[in-house]
Amino acid sequence: MQTKVIKITDPQVAETDLQEAASILREGGLVVFPTETVYGLGGNGLSHEAAEKIYAAKGRPSNNPLIIHVHDPREADKYAFAGDLYNRLAAAFMPGPLTVILPKRDCIPYATTGGLDTVAVRCPDHPIAHALLKVCDFPVAAPSANLSGKPSPTVAEHVIADLSGRVDMIIDGGESDIGLESTIVKIDHDKDGEYLTLLRPGAITADALTCVCERVVIANAVLEQLKDGERPLSPGMMYKHYAPTIPLVLLDGDPNDVLAFLQKEQADKPCAILCYLEEMPHLKDENLFLVGAKDDLATQAHTLFSSLREADKTNASIIYAHLPPRDGLGLALYNRLIRAAAHTIKEI
Ligand code: TXA
Ligand code: MG
Repeated sequence: MQTKVIKITDPQVAETDLQEAASILREGGLVVFPTETVYGLGGNGLSHEAAEKIYAAKGRPSNNPLIIHVHDPREADKYAFAGDLYNRLAAAFMPGPLTVILPKRDCIPYATTGGLDTVAVRCPDHPIAHALLKVCDFPVAAPSANLSGKPSPTVAEHVIADLSGRVDMIIDGGESDIGLESTIVKIDHDKDGEYLTLLRPGAITADALTCVCERVVIANAVLEQLKDGERPLSPGMMYKHYAPTIPLVLLDGDPNDVLAFLQKEQADKPCAILCYLEEMPHLKDENLFLVGAKDDLATQAHTLFSSLREADKTNASIIYAHLPPRDGLGLALYNRLIRAAAHTIKEI
């Protein structure tokens, strides 16, 4: 398949390109588009065949469901049963990096939801995504636009490396702002009423969610490795993810001890390091990937996936990164990094 790559800087003057993208989607084709989190691999969310094509293009198992994207949060009610708590979440966080799992309506095919009776809904906050979704008269199902198992793409070059020849069109809209995928919550009920289960942490933090819903429960799979045979609440948590080919090890300990360890390792063997700004002057400038200042979690989120991709291209025998804190945006970084490292943490 020939993949057409188009660059859009201002969606207001890209009407012809956006119409072309929408008609590819309408006819069952695949279009990659930028969002504020990561790039998405889009197909018509109402089409069984389009969902099958998405799974095939990504090399993803078809029981791992897709998120449907809408241009206005109020559209959710056409495709799912959205109640009062959804409306309050939408008012607080949409458009934005939040995905909400709701009971699906019949118009959403089981192919899109991986066989589940629920559907994930998200309204991205990105001018190109918004303009594209606006000209589509259907929801756009889109997982992250990487090959299954690779880090999510935050620039068009990552998408081209993974999906060229596998999709009809790639819209290059520059760098994704946030760099980590959306926060995913599921609305649940028990005898004490409604609560949110956090299935995937992202830029909308657990603390921010508690402003809208007092009870936020963090799903086991966010922090821990699933036990053999344990079924996650979100099928995506079952799969090894973001794994570089070179083994990744996360370092935990006093910052000075960790720096001394890294200096010694650099002298001993070829290693790649995802390092903090403060450490740079003290390390050899060889296979160093700057992730941001130690306390600048937003920059670390923005750079994480590109750094992992770049580190994996080196001749290093091991990649080191810091174990992030587990609060605020740190929880999202922690969740992505422990999975990329297959839970390998070295205490220094
Ligand atoms: O930021 C994002 O969310 C990006 C952009 C493109 O919007 N999309 C994204 O999609 O990260 P994906 O498919 O790579 O991750 C979606 C996750 C998967 O782990 C999937 O298992 C979970 O959402 N998911 C989707 N529908 C679900 C459902 N009905 N119940 C539970 N988990 C669901
Ligand atoms: Mg993904």
